[in-house]
Amino acid sequence: MLDIKDLKVSVEGKQILNGVNLHIGPSETHVIMGKNGSGKSSLLNTIVKNPKYEIIGGDISFLGESILEKSVCDVARAGIFLSFQSAPAISGLSVSNLLKNAVNSVRKARGEKPLTAPEYFKLAKEYCELLEIPNEWLKRQVNLGFSGGEKKKLSMLEMLFLKPKLALLDEPDSGVDVDAVNIIARAIDYLKQFGVSFIIVSHYEKLISLSKPNFVHVMQDGVVVQNGDITLAEKVIKQGFCDDEK
Ligand SMILES: Nc1ncnc2c1ncn2[C@@H]1O[C@H](COP(=O)(O)OP(=O)(O)OP(=O)(O)O)[C@@H](O)[C@H]1O
Ligand SMILES: [Mg+2]
Repeated sequence: MLDIKDLKVSVEGKQILNGVNLHIGPSETHVIMGKNGSGKSSLLNTIVKNPKYEIIGGDISFLGESILEKSVCDVARAGIFLSFQSAPAISGLSVSNLLKNAVNSVRKARGEKPLTAPEYFKLAKEYCELLEIPNEWLKRQVNLGFSGGEKKKLSMLEMLFLKPKLALLDEPDSGVDVDAVNIIARAIDYLKQFGVSFIIVSHYEKLISLSKPNFVHVMQDGVVVQNGDITLAEKVIKQGFCDDEK
């Protein structure tokens, strides 16, 4: 579903991805690990066509079509979702308005009617219960005054509403308490029943094991240097990143 070939990317004139290759199949869960600054967030931001990240070589295709000429809106409508490592606050926009607008924009692209008010409330109730989120969050401004862990849960609510085909989760478990990590894993599990694929960036054993990845990759200096399964993650967590295993 997602094919990344020899991807080279620069930010503000500095090359930070140096030839990434990655293939994500349908209903697959991939975990990406790597030292700070190895290029994990840059890779995810490039996939969603964040305009700051300039593709200077290689290709990314999603569902058989190159996304090089697509915009951030095009890829979102095509079904790719990014949960940010540090989500920005948007003052003046309520969570409810964000959810309704985002979902309806994706539904329109699929040729579906907008959600009715009762449909929206039914989904909001179901997803807030699943994520153990109080209903009053829906009236608050997006990420404004939310704690770090609360922001991560809020991004899971956005993900459930959007039901993407491919979800990119950038450290959804950083700064998150143990109970909330279980809730995030529950959201991932919930979407797996719809065949969603995941790329999850994480440094921590708990979410990595709960997300039951099919593949684990290690990035270093802007490239993927190791590919394996959950045993690779276990080895990295136990022994650290071995620079000599390039
Ligand atoms: N907007 C930017 N301007 C300048 N340099 C950038 C920018 N974005 C990323 N970089 C640089 O690119 C490199 C990769 O950063 P990136 O955020 O992708 O790393 P990461 O693997 O996600 O790290 P972490 O584990 O700390 O989140 C870093 O050296 C970073 O400083
Ligand atoms: Mg990062």
